[in-house]
Amino acid sequence: MSSNSAAIADARERAQALDRDDSLAFTRSEFNIPTKAQIASTRLSDSATAKASSDDGATDKCVYLCGNSLGLQPKRTQTRINQYLSTWATQGVQGHFKPLDESPLPTWVDADERAAQLIAPIVGASEAEVAVMQTLTANLHLLMSAFYRPDINGKHKIMLESKAFPSDHFAVETQLRHHGLDPSTSMITLTSPSSPEDNILTTAEILAAITEHAATTALLLLPGIQYYTGQLLDIPTITAHAHAHSLFVIWDLAHAVGNVPLRLHDWDVDAAAWCSYKYLNAGPGCIGGLFVHDRHSRVVVDDDDKPEQGYVNRLAGWWGNDKGTRFVMANRFHPVKGAAGFQLSNPSILDITSLSASLEVFGMAGGGVGSLREKSLRLTGFLEELLVGKKGSEGGGGIVPEEERALFRVITPADPQQRGAQLSLMLKGGLLETVMRELEKRAVIVDERKPDVIRVAPAPLYNTFEDCVAFVGALAEALAVARREKAV
Ligand SMILES: Cc1ncc(COP(=O)(O)O)c(C=O)c1O
Repeated sequence: MSSNSAAIADARERAQALDRDDSLAFTRSEFNIPTKAQIASTRLSDSATAKASSDDGATDKCVYLCGNSLGLQPKRTQTRINQYLSTWATQGVQGHFKPLDESPLPTWVDADERAAQLIAPIVGASEAEVAVMQTLTANLHLLMSAFYRPDINGKHKIMLESKAFPSDHFAVETQLRHHGLDPSTSMITLTSPSSPEDNILTTAEILAAITEHAATTALLLLPGIQYYTGQLLDIPTITAHAHAHSLFVIWDLAHAVGNVPLRLHDWDVDAAAWCSYKYLNAGPGCIGGLFVHDRHSRVVVDDDDKPEQGYVNRLAGWWGNDKGTRFVMANRFHPVKGAAGFQLSNPSILDITSLSASLEVFGMAGGGVGSLREKSLRLTGFLEELLVGKKGSEGGGGIVPEEERALFRVITPADPQQRGAQLSLMLKGGLLETVMRELEKRAVIVDERKPDVIRVAPAPLYNTFEDCVAFVGALAEALAVARREKAV
């Protein structure tokens, strides 16, 4: 046995012991984990085959470390969607209002409220402060349309990071143009002076930028967790500093929701938006959500002449109208108090059913994200140790041979409090394609961000410590192939 295979065997034994001791291990069986054969197949499996093979032994499963991009499907999603389809098939329009005995599903007219109840503990908000609606980019636009009020002679700029997710960048640019402003003079993009290559913005750097631009900046849009580097930002400290300088702050929580504990209300966050297809496992493109702090969503409509002065400006639709008068069909907008008053359309019940099915699994894992985070810290710490060795000891615990170890670096902060589940690996130039091809051959699913980054995220709801060993073993092999192919 080579010293490396001995190290892998030893790591596997440690991983198996950690998995045996894991009090949350049971949630893995709530998910359809694709098998190696399914991942390699180019044919649509019928659901019966998929189900049978999803119950196979662990060795047949692929290694899926991609919850940062698309979470796996909970088994109960299919059950709940079938129940929804059956309601629609047998009740037609009555499904909106008619409760059915023994149905776990709410009537459709109440589905948004029920979903808000389920999501509130995950983001640390009251039920009234969250709405399950639309999709992430649409919600960012809706929030900016309500809260971005530029004053061209004073505070008119929007600040974001220079390497923001492109959709956020486009949303900001077009909001500015929508207000007749020029992004070249009204948009501030933050680059880290201490880390220009990776753009790991320190809290001090963000605070300094806020102070510097306070006189002309109205709004700050930042990610809770940065999609490329996996960096977790200090949401409460940054929010407090922005408030001290009268900036409104919107957080993009795409990579933070369901991944790290959030306390949006207590942290005094103004507003936030997220998607549900990553750590929330609701399915591709599924319905998103938003948070509006209760101080920004009050409704007072006792002035009959000017009712619109009784609530914050927003783009409105009938689903944001008070439920009591929604079906009266009067053309006077009377928003529901709270975030629900920002809704536009009646939501897709198919989407809400899928999201709620997944949130049931979060409920089984203790509600919020507290115990999941505790496992996540251990999983990602273990993954890091396998990749680069234990901090403070000479590569101790690492299972990547030296020659391959020289071909990548982890760009995610080493401090566990500054990251979520994800680690981002920056490969030496030109290796990404081969490495991804070789990982796929070994039934390992992670995702790539060109030109050189692999993102790896063990999700505590369904990943195991053994998955981490399998990934790092496969990565070492993939890097060895790339090294030989590219002669590096
Ligand atoms: C950080 C971030 N912001 C915005 C988006 C865009 O999301 P959507 O397509 O749901 O609007 C994504 C998508 O992955 C993302 O990761």
